[in-house]
Amino acid sequence: MDATLPRHVAIIMDGNGRWAERRGLARHAGHREGIPVVRMCVEECLRRGIGALTLFAFSSENWRRPAAEVSNLMTLFVDALEREVPELHANGVRLAVIGDRHALSVRLQSRVAEAERHTAANGALRLQIALSYGGRWDVVQAARKLAAEVAAGSLPAASIDEARFGAALALGGLPDPDLFVRTGGERRISNFLLWNLAYTELWFTDTLWPDFDVAAFEAALAFFAGRDRRYGLTAAQQGGAASA
Ligand code: IPE
Ligand code: IPE
Ligand code: MG
Repeated sequence: MDATLPRHVAIIMDGNGRWAERRGLARHAGHREGIPVVRMCVEECLRRGIGALTLFAFSSENWRRPAAEVSNLMTLFVDALEREVPELHANGVRLAVIGDRHALSVRLQSRVAEAERHTAANGALRLQIALSYGGRWDVVQAARKLAAEVAAGSLPAASIDEARFGAALALGGLPDPDLFVRTGGERRISNFLLWNLAYTELWFTDTLWPDFDVAAFEAALAFFAGRDRRYGLTAAQQGGAASA
């Protein structure tokens, strides 16, 4: 396997609102403009053999935006699922939504469930859309799930280790992201995958999400290819490990 290629890429798709506002358009126009960029990222992952892609589409905190923007976004998610799933399926993409799905409308919940069911057997790319997702929500839901198993007597508390806890998180079963990308200029995590990003390489760009193109995606991959991932070891140990 090519170690210079990430196995899992996680992206905060930020800057849609500013993209629109700079053109004198409603923020919603920027969100809509972001959809083809999602398609491009999926295609690039498929073409390059990157096995997993996780996209932050709507955070736990985004519910506090003006009601009209929230409702426009939810409509966009419903429509995008309806429009994109056949092609995703044809390309072997397995889709999953991570986040507090009970907060979503019944209509969106059923679209999500249907898309997940329809694509469940696919293996070319695992695509996670984080919707109503927060890293803290994720840690709490995992803790609650494990606590219920302990209370039921099916899980000894002493057997909860990092692997068991990680498996209870929304991305349980997937490798941690190797590469994190945030567009839109902010240098922060904004409550994305708090646990899973522990050793992820972080790449930030000022490019706004609707302007993020293949060249920008390639720049992120080139950054990743140049990293020396030490995981706490010394560089000399790493050299030893490589030749061992
Ligand atoms: C990211 O773009 C999309 C969502 C958070 C839903 P923004 O809407 O945050 O765009 P800016 O940051 O205001 O430009
Ligand atoms: C992060 O973007 C969430 C998503 C892209 C879905 P925000 O625009 O909500 O983040 P902040 O508010 O700038 O931290
Ligand atoms: Mg933003």
